[in-house]
Amino acid sequence: MDTKFFTPNQIDQAAQAIRKGELIAFPTETVYGLGADATNEAAVKKVYLAKGRPSDNPLIVHIDSLERVIPFVDNFSGKMAKLAEHFWPGPLTMVLPVKKGSISASVTGGLSTAGFRMPNNTVTRQLIAKAGVPIVGPSANSSGKPSPTTASHVYHDLNGKIEGILDDGPATVGLESTVIDLSGDIPLILRPGVITKSQIEAVVGKVEYDQHLVKESETPKSPGMKYKHYSPDVEVQMIDAKKENWQEAIRYAKNQNKLIGLIADASILKRFQTQVDATYSLGEEHQMDQAMQHLFAGLRALDEKVPQLDIVYVQTFSEEESGLAYMNRLKKAAAQNFF
Ligand code: TXA
Ligand code: MG
Repeated sequence: MDTKFFTPNQIDQAAQAIRKGELIAFPTETVYGLGADATNEAAVKKVYLAKGRPSDNPLIVHIDSLERVIPFVDNFSGKMAKLAEHFWPGPLTMVLPVKKGSISASVTGGLSTAGFRMPNNTVTRQLIAKAGVPIVGPSANSSGKPSPTTASHVYHDLNGKIEGILDDGPATVGLESTVIDLSGDIPLILRPGVITKSQIEAVVGKVEYDQHLVKESETPKSPGMKYKHYSPDVEVQMIDAKKENWQEAIRYAKNQNKLIGLIADASILKRFQTQVDATYSLGEEHQMDQAMQHLFAGLRALDEKVPQLDIVYVQTFSEEESGLAYMNRLKKAAAQNFF
């Protein structure tokens, strides 16, 4: 059956579907999520099936208010409360120790912790309130594809596999939330996002990165980070923004009769667009926020609209602050390959 689109005026219908154990994709400021009632084991299992997601990769739980987290959390410490106060609603997922038996093992992947996030999207917070239950929500893409930043990306990946999509326009952040593990003594960033280490340190003091973010050979603590993610079908290579070797890269691909796509800022596209076969703009020059918002959409757009492309070159950014999140996703899409 075809997946339905719901407008923000139809939250009631979407909430009813969630209560019935159906899957509804929902908007957030980061990316679209694939929603199901977190307290309904059968519904949660359907999420893994629809996405083709490995069952050892836990889901994050979306909530609309602090009251909805408290029943699950073992010991809501000062650091958690401070971070919630500063960054919720917003793009921060907190991995917290949960009370035994309070949440199904299909949500946590059998871990003694679970990730919680209050998204900064009123439509989705109303959806949770009206459904009356927390909603699990991995990104609403097929496993391995770039996360969806619009309702039509979700439709492309999951049409026929889910009941509906609650459409609230394009996501404004464009990359998934920062994941921080608060189950140990020192908070640990498991996945970088738009909320940075230094912003979190300003609120709770010392924070560390999970080892795999510092040294690529280490195994990530967050199960989801070990998979090759965010990869479109076409080959992707990174072009070091500082080296400025766009011209060499284009010449090299042309000599091999390759069809070339470029994903870069407007000033770079202006210089090279007549030499390539497809382009997608990351926004204005030096605008990290715009680049984050457009990266996944660009990878999907070139893949879908020009499927015959042989190679896509994508601009890098410096790995400072939220640039780390952008580069973390881009490196995965490019399987670490620089031109
Ligand atoms: O921005 C986001 O976080 C989006 C929107 C929809 O909220 N959601 C999202 O979910 O990106 P997902 O499932 O695609 O990514 C969640 C990440 C995965 O890497 C998962 O392994 C990790 O969080 N995670 C979830 N629970 C965890 C836990 N208890 N311990 C460690 N990592 C956990
Ligand atoms: Mg995901």
